[in-house]
Amino acid sequence: MSYENLLIENRNGVLWVTVNRPDKLNALNRRTLGELDHFITSAGEDETVFAVVVTGAGEKAFVAGADIGELSTLDPVEAKAFSLRGQAVFDRFERLAKPVVAAVNGFALGGGCELAMACHLRVAARNAVFGQPEVKLGLIPGYAGTQRLPRLVGKGRGLEILLTGRNVSAEEAERIGLVNSVCDQPELVATVDKLLGKILANGPLAVSHCIEAVNHGLDLPFEDACLLEATLFGIGAASEQMSEGTSAFLEKRKPVFRS
Ligand code: COA
Repeated sequence: MSYENLLIENRNGVLWVTVNRPDKLNALNRRTLGELDHFITSAGEDETVFAVVVTGAGEKAFVAGADIGELSTLDPVEAKAFSLRGQAVFDRFERLAKPVVAAVNGFALGGGCELAMACHLRVAARNAVFGQPEVKLGLIPGYAGTQRLPRLVGKGRGLEILLTGRNVSAEEAERIGLVNSVCDQPELVATVDKLLGKILANGPLAVSHCIEAVNHGLDLPFEDACLLEATLFGIGAASEQMSEGTSAFLEKRKPVFRS
């Protein structure tokens, strides 16, 4: 598939995908959502890809939401399908068995905030602005914002942000756990590179199992989630990566997980 609204850069096995509709503040229209779907599916299947970073073109916006022009014409049946479609695409980001980081470089509103929340980790530039302003349009978030936001920041805070539709600064987002870290805009790429450098030095299977345990475990009763953890722990014990990691420790050397 050739992409009209995405730019892809492969940086040593880390795929940087840039949503590229700067004249519309990178708003997600149907075409762009379809391209993101194709992109994330391909990234999951490609064994030479180790991680994904999502960002927006320009210095003003990450993604300023779903395309309001398209939203405004939906009938109820189309609107439900629109919501389910976006939820499914964002689920694929969350469920990728490789780290997915949002490099939030500006407005992350509505679908943009939801896309960032579907990523495993979020690094924000100091000028980033988060929010779910859908209520101001007479809508509710449709790409799982009502679910991921309270899971990240707690029910009370999540509801307050959803009900007011107010903006959340990068600084506040860090304080309430909506983002992992904040940096100056020019440092965004380097900060994400550094974070991924630390993650990708670890056992890839272990990293992937952590993602799976957290993603699936949080939606299970605690006992079942712990059983899932034990099962993944057991599978890890059969891997060469565990053998390499533990041997390296005992031999007082650094492990080499990727050749
Ligand atoms: N959908 C469609 N177009 C959008 C958009 C969206 N979610 N967000 C911004 N745009 C477009 C604007 O319509 C404008 O297009 P135009 O130049 O053809 O008129 C362009 O992007 C620039 O936006 P503008 O509003 O002029 O920039 P600003 O700096 O004054 O304001 C925002 C920036 C983010 C505060 C403002 O664009 C905004 O509120 N966007 C909508 C956010 C939102 O409600 N998102 C949730 C949608 S469900």
